[in-house]
Amino acid sequence: MSTVLYEVKGDIAILTIDRPKALNALNSEVLGDLDAALDAVDVNTVRCLILTGSGQKSFVAGADIGEMSTLTKAEGEAFGKKGNDVFRKLETFPIPVIAAVNGFALGGGNEIAMSCDIRICSDNAVFGQPEVGLGITPGFGGTQRLARLIAPGMAKELIYSAKNIKAPKALELGLVNAVYTQEELLPAAEKLAKKIAAQAPIAVRACKKAINDGLQVGMDEAIVIEEKLFGSCFESEDQKYGMAFFLDKNKEKVKAPFKNC
Ligand code: CAA
Repeated sequence: MSTVLYEVKGDIAILTIDRPKALNALNSEVLGDLDAALDAVDVNTVRCLILTGSGQKSFVAGADIGEMSTLTKAEGEAFGKKGNDVFRKLETFPIPVIAAVNGFALGGGNEIAMSCDIRICSDNAVFGQPEVGLGITPGFGGTQRLARLIAPGMAKELIYSAKNIKAPKALELGLVNAVYTQEELLPAAEKLAKKIAAQAPIAVRACKKAINDGLQVGMDEAIVIEEKLFGSCFESEDQKYGMAFFLDKNKEKVKAPFKNC
């Protein structure tokens, strides 16, 4: 039995971390299952992915503290690498990933949400990096991604003080894009995923790569990254169709779905 559920709904799909007895905490098994689940996504047919957690209380309550409690220095580093490798796979996944944060997103939970392209959350969501209270640093990218996503001074305050924040504060800080009730969260995530899935897939993927790769380098290099990805869209069937559709003055026309080619 996998600890990660996978459901395809047309051209979008939902990955659900399913370890509710431990509030979906990430142990080695969950990390392995998540890695395998990502490998199994058919990115030629699925155009946007949603990541969420089982139940109404917790998205992911962090890395598994029981498993970490007896690790040596070398094992701790290896555990960090295991999480980082999976989260980086998620961050660089070819199609967009939306985190639907349905409750606690602490430690590794906040870190996995930050590895997604877009975060929306339920009104009971709680975010934080409580690691220093456990005697460790964030270990799955928290020191790096939080300081890039929100103001570095605020990221430092949250990480050094192990202070948790609720959904409205996460919205104010730009950590999430929107807050919904529990009932509205998944439908809202699906609606957004479908809106993304309806755009030209080659172009959407190129936008993700341009933004992600461009953020790692200076502006001179970044605009060259964009130029190349912009150029790569031309001659595609979707580009020809999308532009021809705009240029066609027939008011009665109906837009056909993009073909991903
Ligand atoms: N690891 C292992 N088990 C966890 C867990 C975690 N991170 N979080 C919750 N659980 C387990 C609890 O041990 C408990 O199990 P039992 O029923 O077997 O006792 C079960 O989930 C339910 O949890 P609580 O009884 O604690 O539920 P609560 O409602 O009282 O509290 C909570 C909820 C505030 C989220 C609390 O569980 C909590 O503080 N969890 C730990 C959060 C945390 O510190 N996360 C960071 C981990 S370190 C990390 O992530 C490092 C990294 O960057 C890689």
